[in-house]
Amino acid sequence: MEEKQDKQNLLPTIFVILGATGDLMRRKLAPGLFHLYEQGQLPPLFQVIGFSRDELATDSFQEMVAGIVAQRVPGADLDAIGRFKKFFVYQQGLFEENEGYQSMASFLGQKDGEWMVCANKLFYVAASPQYYETIFRKLASSGLTKPCSPEEGWTRVIVEKPFGKDLETAKELDGLLGKLFKEEQIYRIDHYLGKETVQNILAFRFSNYFLDPAWDNRGIERIHIALMEQETVGERGGFYEGIGALRDVGQNHVLQLLALFCMENPGTFGAAEVRKARAEILRALKIWKGSNIEKMTVRGQYEGYRQEKGVDANSLTETYFRIETYVDNKRWKGVPIILESGKAMPEDRVEVTVTFRHPTPCLCPPGKHYQNTLRYHVEPKEGIHISFLVKKPGPAMVLEEKDFIFDYKEAFGAEQVADAYERLLLSVIRGDQTLFVSTEEIMAEWEFVDPILRAWQNTASPLEIYKKGSTPEGKL
Ligand code: BG6
Repeated sequence: MEEKQDKQNLLPTIFVILGATGDLMRRKLAPGLFHLYEQGQLPPLFQVIGFSRDELATDSFQEMVAGIVAQRVPGADLDAIGRFKKFFVYQQGLFEENEGYQSMASFLGQKDGEWMVCANKLFYVAASPQYYETIFRKLASSGLTKPCSPEEGWTRVIVEKPFGKDLETAKELDGLLGKLFKEEQIYRIDHYLGKETVQNILAFRFSNYFLDPAWDNRGIERIHIALMEQETVGERGGFYEGIGALRDVGQNHVLQLLALFCMENPGTFGAAEVRKARAEILRALKIWKGSNIEKMTVRGQYEGYRQEKGVDANSLTETYFRIETYVDNKRWKGVPIILESGKAMPEDRVEVTVTFRHPTPCLCPPGKHYQNTLRYHVEPKEGIHISFLVKKPGPAMVLEEKDFIFDYKEAFGAEQVADAYERLLLSVIRGDQTLFVSTEEIMAEWEFVDPILRAWQNTASPLEIYKKGSTPEGKL
């Protein structure tokens, strides 16, 4: 499998970015592609077409790319940037009109002629979600996403989140994608799945057998998944307003962490098996209804959010949530799982804490019923900490709590903990869907989140205003 996928790296590939002058291009795509270029991971025949409404000549687009890389990749070699920018050409066009797509089709045809091959083509939809439907339809109707033949020149469509605004819109969008493209052509991004530490959850859980017997409701008392960010919404108020924390990071990143921590052993690390196991857990989530929503959820908004650019002065959008949930299956029956995320938090910390049971009576320090915890740090201090009791050196049997610590950067070097997008881009080129979300997963995520969002609209769980740098109290 790996060998077959590696060969895919060698096939001529054209990468089309729809929305190429936007934020994602700056923050993730241009730096990610540059890293892959530096590591020699891009196919020998490679071309990027930037598509956007802005009037821009290819030269200026190349300068824009060079500027982004110089700014975003510290220490990047200027000669390498100069060679890298040559991969990029620009195609002006409006998402809703045919002309741009037609010009792109003729450019792609020319390129195939020049390379004397039918190149693989990737269409990365990095535009604002309001254009998704139009873009999908135009890509399909213009024939751009039609492979040359079943054996040659695959085409793939990459879709960024947010994938819908609720269950209904997600279903519509997915239905449309399903009509226009085959499932193996569709790559739905949840960039958390591309993070090194997130991928490692499977290795950590399933390649270290000693954890297995403890990994259920007999061994584990509770799980807490926290995605805490110190930053406020800053310049992104216009996007965030009306979306809120639960849609922005809960429906996707936090639930994917839950799936990886709670799923059954998939038997292999293959895409189909891993995605199926993740979907099964997401489908087993307890769906809160009625008064349970008020009991099991807390939502908050940081003080000053309503004054952010692009935000309604009376906004009820949550910038923080805490939800207690359960997985309704034999393994996890009765184990509370806390999902928590917020902006303007005291610190940046994405972490999953697993608290193990510790039966009484126990050989614990006096007055303290000690529990082992496993703290899985996704970022920024990537690593795994497991607390345990140790006898303090000395004549008496005095116990103290210490940590086993595995530090990613110490073990492998900081540069090895690569950015998620790099890995995702490489996966699309190779045709590996493991790190992408299936229809079943997206729908199960919305099934869970939707009733909570609707109840919040009807004022269940009053919005708590919290000070920047603090966490709302709530009742959970
Ligand atoms: C994005 C959200 O999907 O994830 C952002 O839209 C959030 O609001 C970001 O800040 C967090 O991702 P990361 O990789 O910075 O942890």
